[in-house]
Amino acid sequence: MRKPIIAGNWKLHKTISESCELATQLVADLSDIDDIDVVIAPVFTALSAVAETLKGSSIQLAAQNCFPETSGAFTGEVSPDFLQDAGCNYVIVGHSERRQLLNETDAFINQKLLKVITTGLKPILCIGETLQQRQNDQMQEVLRTQLKGGLGNLSAAQMAPMVIAYEPVWAIGTGKTATNDQAQEAHRFIRNLLQQIYNSEIAAQTRIIYGGSVKPDNVAGLMQQEDIDGALVGGASLKVADFSRIVRFEK
Ligand code: 13P
Repeated sequence: MRKPIIAGNWKLHKTISESCELATQLVADLSDIDDIDVVIAPVFTALSAVAETLKGSSIQLAAQNCFPETSGAFTGEVSPDFLQDAGCNYVIVGHSERRQLLNETDAFINQKLLKVITTGLKPILCIGETLQQRQNDQMQEVLRTQLKGGLGNLSAAQMAPMVIAYEPVWAIGTGKTATNDQAQEAHRFIRNLLQQIYNSEIAAQTRIIYGGSVKPDNVAGLMQQEDIDGALVGGASLKVADFSRIVRFEK
């Protein structure tokens, strides 16, 4: 019922030509995949060139961030409208690296989500607790605050394109994946929150994906969990062989 989605977050890696080369290889390797949404998120500067490379393939393009306005005097920022113009279908919003390094707040993230949705793009909202918060037994409180604050007053109708990524900060780039049970528990908690905030239909239809050291070795176990609908992959998405295996849930 929920179509799986595997998204590669390339972060600040790969020049324009390197990005196009990786995208070209993925197009060739994944040409038989039609039952999974495959998404890649290169750096801003490579987006339109990669969009050209992806033409005619089913791989979709994401940006890693956006600014919640259309156009104007916002030096250095890029709006969802301009991302759409560059060929994007998705936008990652509220990644923990932006929350930590750039002090992004839930209120600002909410403005971005609203703008992404009204522009007709699909947001991937990232939420997740730090190691310290988990150790202090604050995981549920953090997820509740980030989810409620990020979604703000988005209506049930506006939730249709939403993807939520649970990315425990302690598992990002550390090689420490959440166990299948830990990830499933968090995903179930998020789905229950969606039911409380909206209704059971929204809870049942919203895709919740896991991020944090996803590799070919652990993807199959994660994908077997009832409430895990895909993955947001960092490091392993930069290697064509690894990402292709992840998309196939293969070791
Ligand atoms: P890693 O897969 O490198 O841990 O990164 C996860 C991530 O932050 C994806 O957005």
